[in-house]
Amino acid sequence: MTSNVQLPIGIFDSGLGGLTVAGEIHKILPREDLVYLGDTARVPYGTKAPSTVIRFALEDMEFLHQRSVKAVVIACNTVSAWALPTLEQKYSIPILGVIEPGAQAALEQSKNHRIGVIGTHATIKSQAYERSILARDLNARVFCQATPLLVPLVEEGWMEHPVTLAVLKDYLAPLLEQEIDTLVLGCTHYPLLKKAVRQVAGKGVALVDSASSCARFVQERLGCLGLLNTRRKRTGTIHPFVTDEAARFDSLVREFLGIKMEPSQKVTLPS
Ligand code: DGL
Repeated sequence: MTSNVQLPIGIFDSGLGGLTVAGEIHKILPREDLVYLGDTARVPYGTKAPSTVIRFALEDMEFLHQRSVKAVVIACNTVSAWALPTLEQKYSIPILGVIEPGAQAALEQSKNHRIGVIGTHATIKSQAYERSILARDLNARVFCQATPLLVPLVEEGWMEHPVTLAVLKDYLAPLLEQEIDTLVLGCTHYPLLKKAVRQVAGKGVALVDSASSCARFVQERLGCLGLLNTRRKRTGTIHPFVTDEAARFDSLVREFLGIKMEPSQKVTLPS
């Protein structure tokens, strides 16, 4: 019988953004097998109603659960903000979201306690980051900005395109006016825009991304639960599944993520 530690970790997102999280997890936990689901047929989630996000999340989760994973990482801020409690109620395996580690990392970085957050409409509407940051530090000031055009730009591969820079200038101006010293990239697609964001925000603003803070959180939590695969000799694999055309997904991954993974497989989700 396979003991739980040998089972893969499931990870899901609406598209390829969550691979930034998978990549970081693979870096710090190289012995773990990862099963990734990108719901590319229905991306973006961030413009949808909370009830729709929850319904999609339940289907994504069920797909990973049927593949016998030992834990699931919600590599999507939108889903973490709206669906985490529902998923935790339904499933007994550990389910880890990206909001808590991102909020914690922002507070560790900020010196003036003025923190900006960018994310999808749904993430910003949820106020999940404000709640999480203020629960840890009542003196913090949190300034949020929905940045819905960024996900389509990433899915298009326009990471450093002049249009992307112009859009970022517009989105970040009100946050920079507030003299933030830390900016949470509150969407797992945004680490792919880090260079462009840095160019617009300047060196004085620390960037916190969901990917690296979440990967450290996964290492810590699964470690505490005794679920890390410490004995495996071989390097773990990343097995990706998508709900839309696989070839386009694979070529974007090759071009922008530099992650070594098996070719992705198109699947239909259980409803
Ligand atoms: N990558 C996702 C997030 O972290 C979702 C983007 C979207 O589908 O709108 O919010």
